[in-house]
Amino acid sequence: MPSLPDTAKAPVPEQRKGGPVVSVRDVEHTYGGRGRGAESVTALGPVSLEIPAGEFLVLVGPSGCGKSTLLRLIAGFERASSGEVEVFGERPEPGNQAGIVFQQPRLFPWRTVGDNVGLALKYAGVPRPERAERTAELLERVGLADTAGRRIWQISGGQQQRVAIARALAGGKRLLLLDEPFAALDALTRERLQEDLRTVSAETGTTSVFVTHSVDEAVFLGTRTVVLSARPGRVALDIPIGLPRTGTGPDELRGLPEYAALRAEIGTAVRDAAR
Ligand SMILES: Nc1ncnc2c1ncn2[C@@H]1O[C@H](COP(=O)(O)OP(=O)(O)OP(=O)(O)O)[C@@H](O)[C@H]1O
Ligand SMILES: [Mg+2]
Repeated sequence: MPSLPDTAKAPVPEQRKGGPVVSVRDVEHTYGGRGRGAESVTALGPVSLEIPAGEFLVLVGPSGCGKSTLLRLIAGFERASSGEVEVFGERPEPGNQAGIVFQQPRLFPWRTVGDNVGLALKYAGVPRPERAERTAELLERVGLADTAGRRIWQISGGQQQRVAIARALAGGKRLLLLDEPFAALDALTRERLQEDLRTVSAETGTTSVFVTHSVDEAVFLGTRTVVLSARPGRVALDIPIGLPRTGTGPDELRGLPEYAALRAEIGTAVRDAAR
């Protein structure tokens, strides 16, 4: 498997070592309600979470419980109505601290697949002579080696989502936020990308927050799963996933008795949360 760009392995600044990568303290979030008669929706909270470096945290919970809201708060796209969010000890600013993969890929449709990834490498400070090779490596990693020259509007939705993942990896951030990135993919592509993402996270130690509706995906990918209750989402279950991160194939992993036990426990919590 090709190695990641050096930018993806950049050292964490000295002052940030030791503390959590993400700290969410007593956070509540309410949308709207400012104008006269405007209805407000309390989407989330109160929620408190600390996410240490290297954690792969998977967020699960019923539709509308505030998962994307929590991700947007961590990304800095929204400011919490109350409570505090810190990323690497600072107030999050959009695009600064985290690489983001949305439910829908957000790409430059008129540019080629390769250009979309190459631009992310440029913004990450990778020198021009290295970009072509790095782009090829990243596209290979997400199974798009043959599509570098095609334009975004000429590839499928699933392929676009893979370009979005390659772009997030190219950014070289120490934190990745992924909002149901595999939801629109066919089962085989999804499994392949799950395996890739698991390997990438184990190799690089990148801290990740990953939203999904799939309990199996939560157990397969995570080092920890947090189940949110129905809106406004609160932490209903916070459970470590102590499965081996390397050296165990996907089938072997899914065959472990601990795997089945975790699936059952998380599945029950998700069903209870939806009631
Ligand atoms: N910009 C907004 N303005 C008003 N309400 C919003 C806004 N964004 C989200 N909401 C509401 O806040 C609640 C939480 O939304 P959010 O998108 O965080 O849920 P979610 O858990 O990600 O759901 P899903 O699993 O369906 O993606 C929902 O009731 C939603 O309708
Ligand atoms: Mg969502």
